[in-house]
Amino acid sequence: MGFLDNIAYLKGIFGIMENIYDIMYKCIDMIKRGQIYMAAFRTDLGIDLGTASILVYAKGKGIVLNEPSVVAIDQNTNKFLAVGEEAKKMLGRTPGNIIALRPMKDGVISNYQVTEKMLKYFFTKAMGKTIFKPRVIICVPSGITEVEKRAVLEASNHAGARRTFLIEEPIAAAIGAGIDITEPNGNMIVDIGGGTTDVAVISLGGIVISRSMKIAGDECNESIVRYIRKKHNMMIGERSAEDLKIQIGTAYPREKEVFMEVRGRNLLTGLPRTVKISSSEMLEALEEPISQIMETVHSVLEKTPPELAADIGDKGIVMTGGGALLYGLDRLITEKTGIKTNIVEDPIGSVAIGTGRALEWVNLLESDLIDSDSIRINN
Ligand SMILES: Nc1ncnc2c1ncn2[C@@H]1O[C@H](COP(=O)(O)OP(=O)(O)O)[C@@H](O)[C@H]1O
Ligand SMILES: [Mg+2]
Repeated sequence: MGFLDNIAYLKGIFGIMENIYDIMYKCIDMIKRGQIYMAAFRTDLGIDLGTASILVYAKGKGIVLNEPSVVAIDQNTNKFLAVGEEAKKMLGRTPGNIIALRPMKDGVISNYQVTEKMLKYFFTKAMGKTIFKPRVIICVPSGITEVEKRAVLEASNHAGARRTFLIEEPIAAAIGAGIDITEPNGNMIVDIGGGTTDVAVISLGGIVISRSMKIAGDECNESIVRYIRKKHNMMIGERSAEDLKIQIGTAYPREKEVFMEVRGRNLLTGLPRTVKISSSEMLEALEEPISQIMETVHSVLEKTPPELAADIGDKGIVMTGGGALLYGLDRLITEKTGIKTNIVEDPIGSVAIGTGRALEWVNLLESDLIDSDSIRINN
């Protein structure tokens, strides 16, 4: 082989190597781009898994779902017939083989399998068809046990989450209300949901003191049912009781009396009947649960360290949750405690919004949040 042949041979080898390098470079570039592309499609979800309703917040989109936490199941086949709004309409109206149930009770999972399936349904509905699994932050009441926390984490991971984090509800509510929770400043959050009322004082991103009790919106409905039965000898359904509460319910005497007609069954004749109910009757009907909520607020204030109590006195009490919308409740709390009480802008959405905002910090928060990776999942 001559000298020139050698040169040509080496050139050939370099040429091939250059091509290989070029192809490799292109591949790396494609992978990089692919990752960016994938990240754009990957969704993170924030979930307010409430007793009354489930709200789903998708990162970058806001609240994408808000549905009652009710599921209708055919008992013969174990199939889901309806979830959310549609299932809620069936409550109290189902034939023998169908049951409409709320898988969350008192803020925790009461029916694990149904909760898992319900979450799966909401994940799919919130994200559409995608192969990507979401990272999920779910808020839980502050007083729940380790076992109850684990149940939420497992249900979420089995339902298809890539990774699940938990955040305590009062913290999420405060973030949702726009409070800077990282400051050394006391804030009191009163969250009245369907199943539980949570009263918490938070400062420096943590809960200093809290109390959770199982008297909230649902108990108010039950109180109304009992009152109408006793006073008018009439049986009404829970949905009618809730309508009464929302339309004419009141926790503080109204300046102008309002009325509403309600239909039910006359307990003496067994026949349907309509009765006109007044808002002052509602005041009487709701007295018991409302006074218990007041007592809880008082007891937390009593135990609050003086510095934080002074902060709360300055800034006021913050109310959130659907129950906060009960007419006059903010005024009653203001009057009984002497502390200004404000309802957040969106009491039903604030926890979900806060959970959603926490998604932005999921990488930073990782050490503070309760993480599903630290809990072994048996598949
Ligand atoms: N305008 C209103 N007045 C009084 N109660 C209300 C009103 N709107 C919703 N609620 C009550 O709020 C409760 C649900 O609140 P929500 O924060 O969604 O509960 P959860 O967090 O348990 O899902 C229900 O008991 C519902 O009846
Ligand atoms: Mg809630």
